[in-house]
Amino acid sequence: MSAPLTIAFLSSNLDFSYLLPAFQAQFPQAQLRLGQDLGPLEDIDAAVCWCPPEGLLARLPRLRLIQSVGAGIDHITADPALPDRPVCRIIDPDMGQGMTAYVCWAVIQQQRHMGAYLRSAAARRWEEQPVQPPRQHRVGIAGLGTLGLACAQALLAIGYSVRGWSRTHKHDAKHDAKPDLPAGLQAFHGAAGLADFLAGCDTLVCLLPLTDDTRGILNRELFRQLPRGAHLINVGRGDHLVEADLLEALAEGRLGAATLDALSQEPLPPQHPFWADPRILITPHIATRTAPAVIARQTADNLARIDAGRASEVAVDLQRGY
Ligand code: NAP
Ligand code: GLV
Repeated sequence: MSAPLTIAFLSSNLDFSYLLPAFQAQFPQAQLRLGQDLGPLEDIDAAVCWCPPEGLLARLPRLRLIQSVGAGIDHITADPALPDRPVCRIIDPDMGQGMTAYVCWAVIQQQRHMGAYLRSAAARRWEEQPVQPPRQHRVGIAGLGTLGLACAQALLAIGYSVRGWSRTHKHDAKHDAKPDLPAGLQAFHGAAGLADFLAGCDTLVCLLPLTDDTRGILNRELFRQLPRGAHLINVGRGDHLVEADLLEALAEGRLGAATLDALSQEPLPPQHPFWADPRILITPHIATRTAPAVIARQTADNLARIDAGRASEVAVDLQRGY
């Protein structure tokens, strides 16, 4: 009789018990291991992870799948002892919708001066702010992947002027029979395209993965290339941002505002200077989430592909880093 499938839930900072009902429904015969006592490590076939404890994955000899519970995998590849096993991420249209809602809100709340209206309302004052048509406001999305493209499409539908930046060249609706991009999106790519992209971003949205190439990309040099007073929205990772450079750019008026959902230190400590700056709006990494049933289903699909010898169809390219 073959050993039952064993799935471990590994995180150094999240309580994964909320995932158990969905995994019990998806894998009724499996052993699910959570918490301090994982049982014999040699039984574990799949690890469902968010910031897994460093070195632990390397101690699982039977491991066939390392499954991220998110779109990003940087919290897994940060482990210097990461074993050579397929790492899979979540690709989920519902996650795209959640991100789209958050990014549209963040763009609009700043461009339509919603902070000023909240202050006016608290003081019972009827006070108008300038009303600028969306097409006069240029939103740039760094990262035209699953999430960046979903956001671009929604912002275009509202009427914003939208541009995007990716690592590789994308095909556009005007020139290509099979476009990768929604009509109206102005596309830039690579290091050579970055300056032209930034020059037209009244709002810059970071939806890049965290890789060796993108760590610290939101820095003084990049801020200097944006139009004066631009709004930065970081929904990528905290380590995309050089925090001291953001404070400096806000103080100089180079940037007008920042909305940050991802921070280098999470939770952001109460004494952190970002909390005290009225131009910075912090949200606690809630831009979007994936439903437990979707994580369980994608874990099952990924395991099935790996067991069928088709890991390359679902595993993240670790050389590329995303
Ligand atoms: P994805 O589908 O892998 O797309 C990544 C995009 O970034 C691609 O367009 C890629 O270019 C581009 N890119 C990568 N490296 C680049 C570089 N060096 N220069 C320029 N462009 C580069 O990723 P996704 O699913 O959209 O997710 C993006 C990120 O969002 C995740 O990695 C995660 O960090 C973050 N996220 C945050 C939350 C939240 O709640 N705050 C939730 C989910 C995800 P190519 O198209 O040329 O490959
Ligand atoms: C969340 O940040 C994710 O990567 O899904």
